[in-house]
Amino acid sequence: MRYECIECGSIFPLEKKLYTCPKCGGLLEVEFDLEKVKEGLDTKFLETAPLSVWKYRPFMPILDDSKIVSLGEGGTPLYRCERLEEELGVRELYVKYEGANPTGSFKDRGMTVGVTKALEFGAKVVACASTGNTAASLSAYAAKAGLKCVVILPAGKVALGKLAQTVMHGARVIGIRGNFDQALAIVRRLCEEKDDIYLLNSLNPFRLQGQKSIGFEIADQLGFRAPDRVIVPMGNCANIWAIYKGFWEFREVGLIEDIPKMTGIQATGAMPIVEAIKLGLKEFRPVENPETLATAIRIGNPLNGPKALRAIRESNGTAEAVTDEEIVRAQKDLARLEGIGAEPASATTIAGLRKLLRVNAISEDESIVCVITGHILKDPQEIMEVSERPVEAPAEFEEVVRLLE
Ligand code: F0G
Repeated sequence: MRYECIECGSIFPLEKKLYTCPKCGGLLEVEFDLEKVKEGLDTKFLETAPLSVWKYRPFMPILDDSKIVSLGEGGTPLYRCERLEEELGVRELYVKYEGANPTGSFKDRGMTVGVTKALEFGAKVVACASTGNTAASLSAYAAKAGLKCVVILPAGKVALGKLAQTVMHGARVIGIRGNFDQALAIVRRLCEEKDDIYLLNSLNPFRLQGQKSIGFEIADQLGFRAPDRVIVPMGNCANIWAIYKGFWEFREVGLIEDIPKMTGIQATGAMPIVEAIKLGLKEFRPVENPETLATAIRIGNPLNGPKALRAIRESNGTAEAVTDEEIVRAQKDLARLEGIGAEPASATTIAGLRKLLRVNAISEDESIVCVITGHILKDPQEIMEVSERPVEAPAEFEEVVRLLE
């Protein structure tokens, strides 16, 4: 196992605590000797053991198993969505429901690995900037590991459920009067200047290693087969890359034959990657003042933008942007046709699918998986704003019956 810079290709030993390439500042990726992993694979175990992040232990970059910090993450449902298939006009549609993770989002898959690495490196404090879910997840895993947790947030811009989790798990929370991109710049500097604070934003390559397991599980749940396409919301752009990497590694070791077309969705008010894909730009152009009701992905300068561009291009995928109105419609479709509760950022996947089908960028014959990244209860305020209020009535039978007519 080793770090590899995605820009200059330099290699570094995994025992070193690194976030970016010491030579060129590029993003780092963790690479394995996959031939060795392949030789050691227990296919019987893979076919029969229950799903979880740690089922795929040979693909996880841990040096000391005794340090593993787990809350039972992964093993989330893959729902076949027949009513949505009919509504949207597609043959085979699934939802990978990441809201079923311990803190209600996919971030837990990354944190089980990231916080384990924090212990391996001997850190006493962990830190992140967040639009909410990273904070909720990190604060829970830090609590489990007995580590202090520092969180920098855009004040007043984080959904209530996520903030509530973070404060209850005991993190030190600072809300800055600014946006996520500014919070991230502050926390990066903090971790550079204070060596005992370990950075757990998605610049940290180990978190992405845990998130790869979304790709592993989807393939596993389909009987060791890749779907034609996987649709993912993009904010800081780590997850789309991580899922791509999961499929890529499974193909390298011979567990699946193909890699799905990775398709990323952003909100129209925060769409730097979509713009770069549509215009064929080599590098994306950051958005100064990102805006969308999907606060989780209100990000203008995505840290892992270069990795997202690579995942989309190498897999022959695509990208699309959706409006707040389209997001709310998709959120209601998921909730009312399938019984699936999604936070707004997650519903972008269904909104994006609808749009891409309409412009014939996706064929109705494809098998498609939409990744629903976060639970509906993460953002209760948004739900009440976009839904009809319950009617009130006197506590009398006739009055209630009259209202139901
Ligand atoms: N969906 C949800 C629910 C998220 O919380 C996030 C990111 C994303 C999608 C996008 O994933 O950043 O890997 O492209 N939330 C981060 C946070 C930024 O701080 O919780 P990405």
